[in-house]
Amino acid sequence: MRIDVFTLFPALVDGFCSESLLGKARGTGLVDLRLHDPRDQATDVHRTVDDSPFGGGAGMLMRPEPIFASVETADPPRPLFLLGPGGQRFDQHLARELAATDGFSLLCGRYEGVDHRVRQHLVDDELSVGDVVLNGGEVAACLVIEAVTRLLPGAMGNAASPVDESFGANGLLEEPHFTRPAAFRGWEVPAVLRSGDHARIDRWRKAQALHRTITSRPDLIEARGGISDDDRALLEEFPPVPYP
Ligand SMILES: C[S@@+](CC[C@H](N)C(=O)[O-])C[C@H]1O[C@@H](n2cnc3c(N)ncnc32)[C@H](O)[C@@H]1O
Repeated sequence: MRIDVFTLFPALVDGFCSESLLGKARGTGLVDLRLHDPRDQATDVHRTVDDSPFGGGAGMLMRPEPIFASVETADPPRPLFLLGPGGQRFDQHLARELAATDGFSLLCGRYEGVDHRVRQHLVDDELSVGDVVLNGGEVAACLVIEAVTRLLPGAMGNAASPVDESFGANGLLEEPHFTRPAAFRGWEVPAVLRSGDHARIDRWRKAQALHRTITSRPDLIEARGGISDDDRALLEEFPPVPYP
């Protein structure tokens, strides 16, 4: 998969994407990440990429010329997404869609954002990573890249991981997990997980995933069509483990 990122701070994205599984995926050629700095396309002696907004107001905007030149020189894979708080919300569904493609591209804004003609005439869509405002699109780009590339076949050690996790095949949040020691500061791991009865453990896990999703994300329950009779039986069989 080829991913092109347009950013005034390529080292930020490169650093993050060089570590851990993502770094490995780049090393093996599974992910071809290409970074482009629009500043390289600035034509004046100061390599200017920003200017004040027409009509006045606080802050600076990224000028269109270096961005257009950078994108047109790189000829990046499409769709090209501008990152911005006003965009379509990035989620696991979109991560799965992008993971099934050969590539896509991301444009990171800085300052107060980019000249609107970039949005109108250069990018294909705009992506937001949540109702928060960041200083720039680089953290958002890293989030998108990691969420997508971990879904590529061969990117993760355990092939079942992207299925058996939150927002996975069953549309639920994941159940709580425990590891050794079985008792820590007097807090015990639920006995069922140590029982060796794998059918019962599976039912417990599904019940806990349901409990957690009902409490924390009722919208996800609605999206999967509510609670079935089987779900109800599981919820009755296993009470929820407490969340503080
Ligand atoms: C300081 S922000 C600009 C915010 C903009 N003036 C506004 O009020 O909507 C600078 C850049 O950070 C990035 N950014 C900030 N918040 C983001 C978010 N929630 N999702 C994606 N990108 C974001 C965008 O690329 C944006 O152009």
